[in-house]
Amino acid sequence: MKNLIDVVQDAGRNCVAIGHFNVADLVLLKGIFEAARELNVPVIVGASEGEREFAGTQQLAALVRSLREEFDYPIFLNADHTHSLAGGLEAVNTGFDSVVFDLSTLPLEENAQSTKEAVEAFKSMNPTVVVEGEIGDIGSGSEIHADSPGPDRALTTPAEARQFVTETKVDVLAPAVGNSHGMRKSMVTGKERKRLAIERIREIKSATCIPLTLHGGSGTADDDLRRAILAGVNIIHINTELRVAWKHGLEAGLARREDEVVPYKILPSAVAAIHDVVRARLRLFGGQN
Ligand code: G3H
Ligand code: ZN
Repeated sequence: MKNLIDVVQDAGRNCVAIGHFNVADLVLLKGIFEAARELNVPVIVGASEGEREFAGTQQLAALVRSLREEFDYPIFLNADHTHSLAGGLEAVNTGFDSVVFDLSTLPLEENAQSTKEAVEAFKSMNPTVVVEGEIGDIGSGSEIHADSPGPDRALTTPAEARQFVTETKVDVLAPAVGNSHGMRKSMVTGKERKRLAIERIREIKSATCIPLTLHGGSGTADDDLRRAILAGVNIIHINTELRVAWKHGLEAGLARREDEVVPYKILPSAVAAIHDVVRARLRLFGGQN
């Protein structure tokens, strides 16, 4: 089976992106995996520090490994938004395929220095682990935010991106290109969509020549995602859309029969809702609509 970096580079050559979806429980993992298998495309599941704390770092690794082995399937596991060296080392040691080392709230120089050290430490433990670095402000929290106007965040410049990549030797870069974590209420109803700075993505790609990740994919205009992929984005993260589907699917499962208490009769509604979101996003990332 190919390594994650080979899969990401193949995606770049084919002008498609790999979908990255966050998991916190088996319901999410089932919905994501079923949708990826249906379309027969590689998929990355990610767990942030909070999601790892809830589900268990080793337990998530064992679940994903079991799917990969039983179905001989390219499903990969990412330690998403990891803020400490210790957390990243634990994930690499547990067999995660990649680490998003996120010190993006620090000044660029400090971020670069610590990310460089993390890249060296992670690669000395597993030379094939993929390390992603983050620069710029894209906010935090895959949650529903109030419908107040979003902060006018600065975009990452091509010079910053080149400097960071050269100094750190990260495999993948996550820049700030108009994207942001979470969704406003008006995005959940579809009244508003996030928009991306496509030309800036193109400039950062040509300044760095490495795979780029788009974080904060939930609620982004479909056409902007298509254009972002053509401009050089290779991995797209979706979380809030899944959390909304998880909640609505669960509510539907609970509402179906008031006296129902059997988890495997209630939870399929949530799995199906997640499956639908992932399927639609994977089709779009693969250029299928
Ligand atoms: O790392 C996770 C993501 O970047 C997801 O962002 O919740 O806006 O989809 P999102
Ligand atoms: Zn993110």
